[in-house]
Amino acid sequence: MRTLEWVNGKLKIIDQLELPHKLKFLYLKTYQDVVKTIKDMNIRGAPAIGVAAAYGCALAGKNLKKAAKALVDSRPTAVNIYWAVQKMLLFAKEGKDLLQEAHRMAEEDIKINKKMGRYGAKLIRSGMTVLTHCNAGALATVDYGTAVGVIRAAHEQGKKIHVFTSETRPYLQGARLTAWELKQMGVDYHLITDNMVGHFMQRGEIDLVVTGADRVARNGDTANKIGTYSIAVLAKEHKIPFYIAVPFSTIDTSMKSGKGIKIEERAGDELTIIKGKRIAAKGTPVRYPAFDVTPAKYITGYITEKGILNPPFKHG
Ligand code: MRU
Repeated sequence: MRTLEWVNGKLKIIDQLELPHKLKFLYLKTYQDVVKTIKDMNIRGAPAIGVAAAYGCALAGKNLKKAAKALVDSRPTAVNIYWAVQKMLLFAKEGKDLLQEAHRMAEEDIKINKKMGRYGAKLIRSGMTVLTHCNAGALATVDYGTAVGVIRAAHEQGKKIHVFTSETRPYLQGARLTAWELKQMGVDYHLITDNMVGHFMQRGEIDLVVTGADRVARNGDTANKIGTYSIAVLAKEHKIPFYIAVPFSTIDTSMKSGKGIKIEERAGDELTIIKGKRIAAKGTPVRYPAFDVTPAKYITGYITEKGILNPPFKHG
């Protein structure tokens, strides 16, 4: 099953706000529907929202320019949206069929993930414990996944591995989505809270870290889900290799370093209310950056569709 697919003139997406309890679908008819579901995170994960944005452009018709702006503004950190929208604007200029181009982008995403999986699986040996953060699995892409795709490829090759998935406060992608995916894959795993990572590293229980990314600057500085930076610093302290699994569409070569990356700040309610239950007093002031930037010096390598690379990055 794909995170998103085109069915009878509508974009069908898995509603990730309902997981893991219900597998529900939403059918998006307009570009405004696409913008809203990206903002509200019914669909999330950099490659998935990039391809969704491409379909949003295909749905926009003569409102393409307006749609392009609304889509790019919907979530500012993931460069994939900008990348997909720029491509669509170019295709429109060339008179190409935007729907066909969006289909092509969706198929390409799956192929790229499988390639990254094959390269990344070489880093994993039987008996290893791998930590991943947030959800960079099939749900964050059209299918297969990036960081979880690496784990999946190793598992498909018959390697016996164990995975720690960190809960990923406050939105709980690790608990709600990655744990759900790992269970279906039949991978041996444990869910831990984010603040347990140091403990398990100190005890020698983590051999490798692989996460996804929302934007990688030319010098390798990487924006990913909040908490990634702390994990990377801990990994360096404990001499544990820390890899980013990233398609080229997530590498922003126009950005010199991570300093220029805009960090999305989300509404405090996602932090103070869990599943409808308030956990902090009403009116509690909250800061909620949804991403952080890990400097390149903490990153051992970048698993891409072209192999395991190191910066500086160039396109083409
Ligand atoms: O806020 P989210 O859930 O969209 O954040 C997702 C992540 O941070 C992922 O690690 C990233 O998008 C890579 S997904 C293959």
